[in-house]
Amino acid sequence: MAESKAFFLATPIYYVNDAPHIGHAYTTTAADVATRWRRQRGEDVWFLTGVDEHGTKVQRAAEAGGVTPQEWVDRLVADAWLPVLETIDAANDDFIRTTEPRHRERVQRFWEVVRENGYVYSAPYEGPYCVGCEEFKLSGDLVDGTGEFEGEKVCPVHGRPAEQLQETNWFFKLSAFGDRLIEYYEANPDAIQPRSAYNEVMSFIRQGLVDISMSRSSVSWGIPLSWDAEQVTYVWFDALLNYATAVGYGAEPGSADAELFDRVWPPDVNLVGKDILRFHAVYWPAMLMAADLAPPRKVFAHGWLLVGGEKMSKSKLTGIAPEQIIDTFGSDAFRYYFLRAIQFGQDGSFSWEDMHARYTAELANGLGNLASRGTAMVVRYRDGALPAGHDLTGAEQQIVDALARAVEVADPAIGELDFSTGIVAVKEFIDLVNLYVTEQEPWVLAKDEAQATRLDVVLNTIIESLRAVAVLYNPVMPKAMSALWEQIGGQAQLGPLAEQRIANVATWGQLAPGTAVTKGAALFPRIEVDE
Ligand code: ME8
Ligand code: MG
Repeated sequence: MAESKAFFLATPIYYVNDAPHIGHAYTTTAADVATRWRRQRGEDVWFLTGVDEHGTKVQRAAEAGGVTPQEWVDRLVADAWLPVLETIDAANDDFIRTTEPRHRERVQRFWEVVRENGYVYSAPYEGPYCVGCEEFKLSGDLVDGTGEFEGEKVCPVHGRPAEQLQETNWFFKLSAFGDRLIEYYEANPDAIQPRSAYNEVMSFIRQGLVDISMSRSSVSWGIPLSWDAEQVTYVWFDALLNYATAVGYGAEPGSADAELFDRVWPPDVNLVGKDILRFHAVYWPAMLMAADLAPPRKVFAHGWLLVGGEKMSKSKLTGIAPEQIIDTFGSDAFRYYFLRAIQFGQDGSFSWEDMHARYTAELANGLGNLASRGTAMVVRYRDGALPAGHDLTGAEQQIVDALARAVEVADPAIGELDFSTGIVAVKEFIDLVNLYVTEQEPWVLAKDEAQATRLDVVLNTIIESLRAVAVLYNPVMPKAMSALWEQIGGQAQLGPLAEQRIANVATWGQLAPGTAVTKGAALFPRIEVDE
């Protein structure tokens, strides 16, 4: 074990059957904000994302596109999945593709270990398989179809009938892990969140776990088993392992990869949508236990972005591409909006009206206006040199105290992935500072020479407040906050924004008098949307 463990957070690896939509961007954005926040705290962090390239769903998409699966995934990864990370401004440490040799070799090694440990055996199997989920369904999983599928049993997520499959497969002895999983989750009730997800998983496990097929003989697009080249690893039992293979599981002892594994293992958070909770909270920890590895410390299952009351999905072609929103509002507003407007863990819907309304009220008129008023007044009344902020009155002390409270709320909230609470705590601080400006009327003070010292204090208070906001919102809106940091002279005075620490952010008076303040372009320009 390394002496200090890094905070390791991973998103699911997404299927490359098609291009990403805002549902995928939502998970990755949340992961990015959570990890940027930890970095802003000074923590060692590892943020992993990537793509799931094997399986029937991807193979069929490639066939429909008239190319080989490898060509299909290469093209989509290069044209869509990597670019979307830039589009949403994600600062991931690594990006894993399941067709990479490092992954293939380590997946093969992993299943050899599990087999050596006695948890893999061969048996025939017949049952319904949903290609949308890439999952064998249990009879209780399916629901009555409607419309076109009236009278048939369909998958509740994809609304389509499952296909009946019959194969001789290798099985993973999942049934051996029910008691250990219950023991683990009873001892660690926060290991599955939110609470509703915990309860769902516990009742699933308590119903009794059945062994599950870990290989497929009728599928060719996958990772062959090392001991049976006729079979490929079942796509989920290939994909879940990315969280281990990407950080050096099975790497040469003493290698940099092996060191990374010691530094980050186990995952602190597997961040997933609730559609794939069972895979992550039941199969995944059981697989790790079977290989004598520590399970994830937390699986957090967030809600769905809905379209017309249903999960937005690639399979149903209801996806909105992130660029569609970001081209208009920018990546910062995209990041802000989804984490602020939807309570993380709950479902939510996207609407242009709501996005536009919040953008205008909270970003353009709220923070943007505070920044432009504050910097413009220092330029106009003090030639762009930050005045001193001596002799705080009660009005300033209220701001100082409110900042400390905002940090006290935001820091643990975002640590717990309660993004909206954290973001709102900072927003309320901004509202208070805007109110302070309105009440202090610096433009009136500026007309009276006798009030010069008072004006100094007010201007200093505004810019100090903006300094704190730049740090607190940097994980959420990195582009706009680095622009703000430049405008208030933070870079020249205090060094890079990324090096400012949350623990220190409420310490008042960090920007020295004389710091050069400039008025830059609007952080959040007003946007007209045509309906
Ligand atoms: O399940 N709302 O990949 P996938 C919110 N490859 N989040 C959504 C969403 C929506 N409407 N749609 C997708 C897979 N997501 C597997 C995962 S992991 C070892 C393998 C997000 O392309 C959410 O995180 O179907 C969801 O769990 C994930 O994308 C599913 O992506
Ligand atoms: Mg899916």
